[in-house]
Amino acid sequence: MHQDRPQNLPDGDLSGAELVALLEFYRAAGVDFAVAEAPIDRFALSAAPSKARPMPQAAVAPPPVSVPSAPRPAQVPGAPALSLNGDPSETRALAATANTLDELKALMNAYEGCSLKKRATQLCFADGNPEAEIMLVGEGPGEQEDLTGKPFVGRAGQLLDRMLASIGLDRTKVYIANMVPWRPPGNRDPSAEELALCTPFLIRQVELVAPKLLVTLGNVPTKSLFETQAGITRVRGQWKELAIGSHRVPALATLHPAYLLRTPGAKSLAWRDMLSLRHAMAGAVGKG
Ligand code: URA
Repeated sequence: MHQDRPQNLPDGDLSGAELVALLEFYRAAGVDFAVAEAPIDRFALSAAPSKARPMPQAAVAPPPVSVPSAPRPAQVPGAPALSLNGDPSETRALAATANTLDELKALMNAYEGCSLKKRATQLCFADGNPEAEIMLVGEGPGEQEDLTGKPFVGRAGQLLDRMLASIGLDRTKVYIANMVPWRPPGNRDPSAEELALCTPFLIRQVELVAPKLLVTLGNVPTKSLFETQAGITRVRGQWKELAIGSHRVPALATLHPAYLLRTPGAKSLAWRDMLSLRHAMAGAVGKG
């Protein structure tokens, strides 16, 4: 029994505080729309024996049903191409049309093909200095990033700022973006489809920033950009020359600051990675 429950509350009823906590849980998980007044227990429904008589096995397969595709909305003349079908070849073609970061941001704002966007508050495009020689790539926005539209502003972002400060960096000297620019509900990992769809935008962002060094933060960007199945704890600390679109860049994989918050014992490894980055900066950054 919950410690703070009012004494007179019957079992099964929720107190005001419990209701607020439950709604907050639903909101964080991306459940923000009620479809009925009362919950439907679909487990109980599917477990109940069906009243319908069993269907005899069809000797011949029924003819395929043709589902008409949904009509596409008319294109507004002069507006950037919009997508509603979530096809990576479309995001690739779309991203290639952006000649500046502002153009890329505008077309990502207009893009409707990624279901993550429907639940997100806004696009979380980038933070930091677009002229920077060091680019950091995270996974995707969390709650605070979704609310502010800026990557790494929550607790993990504050730790990232301290990690950067330890080697003389701050957000005027780095550019920060994420693999997916819209928040995955409940902070889950982006799915393979969402990553495939959004990666062309990130690739174009890298091409336009053209950093001299790149750092992947955690599993998701490391697996995607290093093209490896190995986990981050094995790959961290390693440098690899990456070809990201048309841009070649030495990249370092390191641990995600959110992981370091949960696993403080791993901070010494991240510190080694920061030293490795500082060493590489001495060779690469500010040398024309
Ligand atoms: N985690 C990420 O990977 N990116 C953010 O922007 C915030 C948290």
